[in-house]
Amino acid sequence: VCVCVCVCVCVCVDWCVSHSSILAVSSSTSFYWSTLKIDDFQLHASTMRRYGLGAHRGRLNIQAGLYDDDLYDGAWCAGRNDPLQWLEVDARRLTKFTGVITQGRSSLWSSDWVTSYKVLVSNDSHTWVTLKNGSQDLIFIGNKEKEIPVLNMFPVAAVARYIRVNPRSWFNRGSICMRVEILGCPMPGTCYVRNEITTTDNLDFKHHSYKEMRHLMKVVNEMCPNITRIYNIGKSHSGQKLYAIEISDNPGEHEPGEPEFRYTAGSHGNEVLGRELLLLLMQFMCQEYLSGSPRIRHLVHETRIHLLPSVNPDGYDKALEVGSELSGWSLGRWSQDGVDIHHNFPDLNSILWEAETKKWIPRKMLNHHVPIPEWYQSKNSTVAAETRALVSWMEKIPFVLGGNLQGGELVVTFPYDRTRSQGVSREQTPTPDDHVFRWLAFSYASTHRLMTDARRRVCHTEDFAKEDGTINGASWHTAAGSMNDFSYLHTNCFELSMYVGCDKFPHESELAEEWENNRESLLVFMEQVHRGIKGIVWDMQGRGIANATIQVEGIGHDIRTAADGDYWRLLNPGEYSITVRAEGYSASSKVCEVGYDIGATRCDFTVSRTNLSRIKEIMERYNKQPIRQPLRPPVRQLQARRPGPRHRRVRTS
Ligand SMILES: *[C@@H]1O[C@H](CO)[C@@H](O)[C@H](O)[C@H]1NC(C)=O
Ligand SMILES: *[C@@H]1O[C@H](CO)[C@@H](O)[C@H](O)[C@H]1NC(C)=O
Ligand SMILES: *[C@@H]1O[C@H](CO)[C@@H](O)[C@H](O)[C@H]1NC(C)=O
Ligand SMILES: *[C@@H]1O[C@H](CO)[C@@H](O)[C@H](O)[C@H]1NC(C)=O
Ligand SMILES: *[C@@H]1O[C@H](CO)[C@@H](O)[C@H](O)[C@H]1NC(C)=O
Ligand SMILES: *[C@@H]1O[C@H](CO)[C@@H](O)[C@H](O)[C@H]1NC(C)=O
Repeated sequence: VCVCVCVCVCVCVDWCVSHSSILAVSSSTSFYWSTLKIDDFQLHASTMRRYGLGAHRGRLNIQAGLYDDDLYDGAWCAGRNDPLQWLEVDARRLTKFTGVITQGRSSLWSSDWVTSYKVLVSNDSHTWVTLKNGSQDLIFIGNKEKEIPVLNMFPVAAVARYIRVNPRSWFNRGSICMRVEILGCPMPGTCYVRNEITTTDNLDFKHHSYKEMRHLMKVVNEMCPNITRIYNIGKSHSGQKLYAIEISDNPGEHEPGEPEFRYTAGSHGNEVLGRELLLLLMQFMCQEYLSGSPRIRHLVHETRIHLLPSVNPDGYDKALEVGSELSGWSLGRWSQDGVDIHHNFPDLNSILWEAETKKWIPRKMLNHHVPIPEWYQSKNSTVAAETRALVSWMEKIPFVLGGNLQGGELVVTFPYDRTRSQGVSREQTPTPDDHVFRWLAFSYASTHRLMTDARRRVCHTEDFAKEDGTINGASWHTAAGSMNDFSYLHTNCFELSMYVGCDKFPHESELAEEWENNRESLLVFMEQVHRGIKGIVWDMQGRGIANATIQVEGIGHDIRTAADGDYWRLLNPGEYSITVRAEGYSASSKVCEVGYDIGATRCDFTVSRTNLSRIKEIMERYNKQPIRQPLRPPVRQLQARRPGPRHRRVRTS
């Protein structure tokens, strides 16, 4: 609980003002300077090789840029290789230092790490005391390679304001480069002002093991049985069920006219914040619903929401076992059988783009619902069980909008994720719905507490805050077969990736603040499912027509109606000419207007059968006998052929 009882004058006014530069104060035994809380001005070094390898690059897990011209590199590297070099942290208040974690330099090309080091502390940064074991200086054993974090706890905690790590030996073919985490906690009674965000939400702020996750979902379900339902979409490689919770006023049913929304998280098992955010979100929505919050009640009544907190539970288990501090950057990223689930979808981009080049669209191929190629279905292909489960879930439910929560950055990415020219990096590759995607991405980023804050430090190499906190996936780093591209090209659903924090595995004590950072964004993004137009495509008898095409003039990407003839087309405000086509029916067009207020514009269509299809139907009816009757069939018979109430409800699982 944040209570500022500090009456003395704070000298460190700067970090009282900017929320992106405060030390973490937690009841736990450690603080983490890989988070945003220690600013770059608190980090110093004896020398640096160049600016991109300065002290500010010495944070644990920091990543080098992928490109030659990147300014920022993957560690602090000293300007000289001798035993007089040091990296210093100014904690800005008396701190009980308890340990150090080190890594080598993040780099594809070079091999640099520190194999042993001393630690010194000071209260004034002039007089330094070396940590000792009796009368001997303590020499800590450092790293054996560049990625795996190595922890050294001090035999006795040291109280001071400044701490230095002094490399004594390093990998003999490399030079002095390191990334560091300092463990410690502020001394009680020290003067500090903390405008750290605290939350008033009474939620379960902790990391949940698989069992605990299942239990929590059950608790939410028991608290809100009327609006929740737990189900699973399949199993992981090692047989753990992939649980989802549905939040809706009629759980278990697709209600015609009600759009379906999904959040997924944890496809990279080591990016754990998204998983916890979704577990917090389901608790929050249930509580708010029960206490009568008009915003949440409205959302639940008008939307069918699916939350799938752990796409890769096997990978999560691996990361959790080693823990927040020592899991490094990639332990647990992949599925049990080594697949990167988020990029394991069929690459439909190349199929569509090739067809476009050959001018096959729309006659030989459609501009949407690109079919999955056959090789992908075959047993020999390297498709993870988790990916297959996702694909069939995405095909079964008529999702309109989705977000997958990732970690390790603070940015929202929108498709395409793959560049159109192969082998080219950083090429903007917009979808035909680029304006809508930019809006959707911005709706999350702009309501996040840090994403668009120009004062925050960059996570790794790129300053996304300058670009509204959003980026086209392909122009960041191109990858084929992403969930976002697949969703857009194979289904009606628009899917984006939210990178919800610099730290992939934040410490438990930071979850409350991360929840505050993301809560509004999570809600605002869900509400965007109600933008654009929606409606039902009817036949003359008032039955919904499934699989009808909704075409928006000027946008080369159609969507289709769901089983009840209902559809949703996400669009930015404006006037649109919409054409509806269904096999056997005459096309129908009208102008529909989308306003600025949230709430999709209703835009229904009634279409009549074409003369040709009527003739065909009658011929089938009379066993293809020559027709002597008038063309118009008896209406009663037609209706009798396909019975069913107008508002059929469909159980989707
Ligand atoms: C720094 O000051 C504190 C409190 O005065 C003291 O306990 C501690 O030993 C000092 N540390 C060093 C390294 O001098
Ligand atoms: C401290 O010194 C003692 C005796 O020399 C030794 O047994 C112990 O392992 C040393 N501890 C550390 C942390 O180096
Ligand atoms: C669930 O619905 C029933 C019947 O409408 C109602 O009596 C009950 O209070 C509701 N329960 C909750 C937890 O909202
Ligand atoms: C899988 O088998 C098909 C033939 O059945 C072959 O064309 C394809 O290249 C194989 N794919 C892989 C990844 O081995
Ligand atoms: C939907 O219609 C398209 C042609 O417009 C057709 O290729 C496809 O098979 C239909 N899908 C279903 C499920 O009927
Ligand atoms: C369909 O048939 C009706 C008569 O049943 C005729 O009036 C109409 O022009 C025909 N439409 C087309 C497009 O041929």
